[in-house]
Amino acid sequence: MMTTTSSFKHEKVKLQAQKIAKSYGQTQVLADLDLDVHSGELLTLLGPSGSGKTTLLQIVCGLVEPTSGCLMIDGKDETWTPVHQRDIGVVFQNYALFPHLTVEENIAFPLRMRHLPSAEINQKVKQVLEMVELGHVATRLPRALSGGQQQRIALARCLVYQPSVILMDEPLGALDRQLRETMQMEIKRIHRESGATIIFVTHDQEEALALSDRICLMNEGKIAQIGTPQEIYERPQTTFVAEFIGLSNILDGQIRGDGLHTRHGVFPLNSGLRDGDNAALVIRPEHMRIAEQGSGVLEGLVSESVYAGSETRVVVTLAGGEKFIVRSSAQTPVRIGDRVSLNWDVQNSRLLAV
Ligand SMILES: Nc1ncnc2c1ncn2[C@@H]1O[C@H](COP(=O)(O)OP(=O)(O)OP(=O)(O)O)[C@@H](O)[C@H]1O
Ligand SMILES: [Mg+2]
Repeated sequence: MMTTTSSFKHEKVKLQAQKIAKSYGQTQVLADLDLDVHSGELLTLLGPSGSGKTTLLQIVCGLVEPTSGCLMIDGKDETWTPVHQRDIGVVFQNYALFPHLTVEENIAFPLRMRHLPSAEINQKVKQVLEMVELGHVATRLPRALSGGQQQRIALARCLVYQPSVILMDEPLGALDRQLRETMQMEIKRIHRESGATIIFVTHDQEEALALSDRICLMNEGKIAQIGTPQEIYERPQTTFVAEFIGLSNILDGQIRGDGLHTRHGVFPLNSGLRDGDNAALVIRPEHMRIAEQGSGVLEGLVSESVYAGSETRVVVTLAGGEKFIVRSSAQTPVRIGDRVSLNWDVQNSRLLAV
């Protein structure tokens, strides 16, 4: 299995956050955060706006000091190492290319700062330009490049001095969808070829699922869950995770006796939850089926049906007002206003703490 091999491949720890906390005045932005980043992995920090992703990245690269905690790189405490002494490359959302320097001068810049001999600089610049497939624009100024090309040059400028850790903060945020997808493939290829450890910040869950070896989902300065895309998507541990990653249908209730009591009936499910706990039943749209009225588990009214090419998304509204989304690849012959039942296999539902 792909996921198993990829987690074995990255078992060495490259970078370790130990109880990192950050406060600005009274506001706590990061709360005693522990995180291991494995050597050679591409880890995404995913989470809603304000969850602390950029702050964590800035602490890793040394632009911001933590209030407490420790940052270990290759087993050494680097919490107080200045930015320029860390073996870390950073790509920000605004590409920050020097406008008056040509593409090749931009890329050569970090090497000149490190006083490398000219011949070596020329050779490295040429190599990295080939890697991002932009050798033909070497003598242009940044303003004569498209957004995607500028982004690739920013990436090249970061790769050229071969940092062993690369941090990227929403580097594709400004690009249109098609270019984003092309750049995602590019980043995956560059990651494979360079062997660098990459921490990639995004608030786009699809991007995280597409790119990551592991996803670290953050919420309010804490880690909500960390795992492979598959683990996070298929086995979310809380309703926050289930709702943030992919679409989820959620039925709230309370555990009493042996089941989850909801306004739509009792769902007898085993879990580690205790009597009195608030919990929710979570079912992904692709695991839900529409059945004839009276033949399923829940009853509702078809309130929307959206054709999306490879599938049709049907929204069924329950009596309590909950909207459930069903993804149907077959032609579901339903019309808005139809009364229908909803069905699913118990093994495809999950009972989660709220
Ligand atoms: N220099 C600062 N002074 C005070 N508060 C700050 C400072 N920098 C960040 N914050 C606060 O810390 C919290 C986390 O900010 P951060 O930029 O890390 O979030 P983020 O997850 O990167 O969000 P986004 O997705 O919007 O970029 C926010 O509430 C923000 O207002
Ligand atoms: Mg940010």
